Amino acid sequence: MLLPEQSPEQKGRYVRAMFSAIARRYDLLNTLLSFGLHKRWKQYAVAVAAPPPGGLALDVCCGTGDLVFLLHRRVGPQGRVVGVDFAEPMLHLARKRAGGARGVWFVQGDAQALPFADGTFHAATVGFGVRNVADPLGTLRELFRVLRPGGRLVVLEFSRPRSRLFGALYDLYSYTAIPWVGRRLSRHPDAYWYLPTSIRGWPDQEAFRDLLHQAGFRSVWYRNLLFGAVAVHAADKPPGRQEGRPAAANPSLAGPEGRPEVRS
Ligand SMILES: C[S@@+](CC[C@H](N)C(=O)[O-])C[C@H]1O[C@@H](n2cnc3c(N)ncnc32)[C@H](O)[C@@H]1O
Repeated sequence: MLLPEQSPEQKGRYVRAMFSAIARRYDLLNTLLSFGLHKRWKQYAVAVAAPPPGGLALDVCCGTGDLVFLLHRRVGPQGRVVGVDFAEPMLHLARKRAGGARGVWFVQGDAQALPFADGTFHAATVGFGVRNVADPLGTLRELFRVLRPGGRLVVLEFSRPRSRLFGALYDLYSYTAIPWVGRRLSRHPDAYWYLPTSIRGWPDQEAFRDLLHQAGFRSVWYRNLLFGAVAVHAADKPPGRQEGRPAAANPSLAGPEGRPEVRS
């Protein structure tokens, strides 16, 4: 069981083991528990990220790859998309879904230490992932680092409902139906108890906007979805803020067969 006094290493181990254990039922539960809404939210997040056709996009905490496949549609056949997750069973399902599609890669890695060179990606997304990492600010800084100057980060995450009535219903649903259905279908003792608990401990819309600023992003804005139970934050890396090598001269963009080079 997840305890509040867990160290960052313990949290990482717990979260990884939990997502590995529930991977097989993850998509089904996502669709059931959100009444299918997560698909629309993800479409919206990718529309906001708007990677250019032929561009290079990244999805961190990619799970079974929903956002990766949507990004791939946006960048088109000349573009490339990389999904990163630390739970191998999630990546296994994502690779199966990809079926060897050109321009899509799934890489095992930690969101807090991304295996890519500075300034690699035109756009990056994180869907329901940053709440789960032990160091959210460190993760946002990593995303800032691997984005090109002018690149955009979009974070889709649970947030704070703006309506009292909806908030009360949502609390009831989160602490009764979600753990009940989640436990039965995932067969994990506390994964779907961890879900509402981690949401309640997560910063609200404004606090998360401030965290994005702290990580170096500018032009930060958000849009509430489902009365604020979910929010999409968009944040831009200012043009000209490239530490390290310039992206154009970056060999990571020209790895074997055009595959983005992954540093181990
Ligand atoms: C709630 S799922 C979201 C999956 C997917 N983005 C979606 O929206 O369906 C969170 C994912 O984040 C991954 N994750 C959590 N912490 C991570 C970390 N530090 N590094 C990489 N992946 C991580 C988990 O393995 C899990 O697959």
